[in-house]
Amino acid sequence: MKALTFHGKQEIHFETIADPRILTPTDVIVKMRACAICGSDLHVYHEHEKGIDTGTAMGHEFAGEIVEVGGQVKAYRKGDMIMSPFTTSCGACFYCRIGLTARCVQSQLYGWVEKGKGLHGGQAEYVRVPLADSTLMKIPEGVSLEEGLLLGDILSTGFFCAQQAQVTPGGVYVVVGCGPVGLMTILGARELGAERIVAIDSVPERLTMARKFGAETINGQHPEAFQVILDATEGRGAEAVMEAVGSHSAVRLALELVRPGGIISSVGVCNDAHLAFSPVEAYNKNLTYKIGRCPARNIMERLIPMVQKKKYDITSVFSHTMRLSDGVRGYDMFANKKDNCLKVLLKPD
Ligand SMILES: NC(=O)c1ccc[n+]([C@@H]2O[C@H](COP(=O)([O-])OP(=O)(O)OC[C@H]3O[C@@H](n4cnc5c(N)ncnc54)[C@H](O)[C@@H]3O)[C@@H](O)[C@H]2O)c1
Ligand SMILES: [Zn+2]
Ligand SMILES: [Zn+2]
Repeated sequence: MKALTFHGKQEIHFETIADPRILTPTDVIVKMRACAICGSDLHVYHEHEKGIDTGTAMGHEFAGEIVEVGGQVKAYRKGDMIMSPFTTSCGACFYCRIGLTARCVQSQLYGWVEKGKGLHGGQAEYVRVPLADSTLMKIPEGVSLEEGLLLGDILSTGFFCAQQAQVTPGGVYVVVGCGPVGLMTILGARELGAERIVAIDSVPERLTMARKFGAETINGQHPEAFQVILDATEGRGAEAVMEAVGSHSAVRLALELVRPGGIISSVGVCNDAHLAFSPVEAYNKNLTYKIGRCPARNIMERLIPMVQKKKYDITSVFSHTMRLSDGVRGYDMFANKKDNCLKVLLKPD
């Protein structure tokens, strides 16, 4: 089959690799119908995140059709259209039972093969899905393929970020970063009732999207960001800051903007060796810091009715639709924000 594969720093190939096959009876094989490039793929692309084997099929955001079913799979049949969270989960372990499916003891991340072990990704013609019964979900009526794909990662991640920030109506909330994840975080905060959301980025087109999604915006390059938040909160700072970037500067900005006793909720993946703030800085703000991988399998279930109601135009984050065979260019465009690229949707050739 054809796939977009990792070959070192900023080098993605569109090449032929072995077709996936059923390895355990709880696997299924999915024919990819839509997949996308995520900010998380860029950490691998830029080699900020290391360890993945050369030749690994990239990507963890996909939806498609089941074409082969392992002998022990009960919930799915050939022909079912499915969506998938970006990690697999067993549905039965301690973490799955408490809803933290991202930390399932059998969890695997798509698009991560290291020293021969792991799971190839969704930016490929076919994808092997382990633990299919507990990992996958049928795409429900009233949910499109693209919406299903977004449920599997960034829509759920944005909601999770807002949930971790304990968003309630009233108060001023900040979202740092208006990439696809930050934009979904704005929607997540709205869904939880936030009335005033201030979003920060330095890319004008992304700020325009943030306003469309219901936030006020500050261009992060302007030094008055801090003052704007203070003025809006009687000098205290935001109730919570949701960080969807994954860098020291973004977390430091969050620390500056959060009020004493407030929460920083980070979904940005920062590959630095240390936290962006010191223990005493956290102490001096009585800070609560929440960080981690979104348990998408748990959250997507909850968000289905919201998607069915078409409450928000979530698929408008897809600025570019291309063929899988054009994915190398897709990476370059997304990584370098060429042609105002916000998110790339890839369809099979
Ligand atoms: N925790 C999870 O489960 C999870 C899931 C999906 C994605 N992520 C992570 O979320 C992050 C965002 O993903 P994305 O797809 O939106 O990526 P992206 O790279 O498209 O978006 C990042 C945005 O942050 C902006 N930015 C950079 N530095 C900034 C700063 N100092 N202040 C304000 N804005 C700044 C950029 O201009 C860009 O618009 C990534 O780190 C990704 O790995 C985490
Ligand atoms: Zn992702
Ligand atoms: Zn589990």
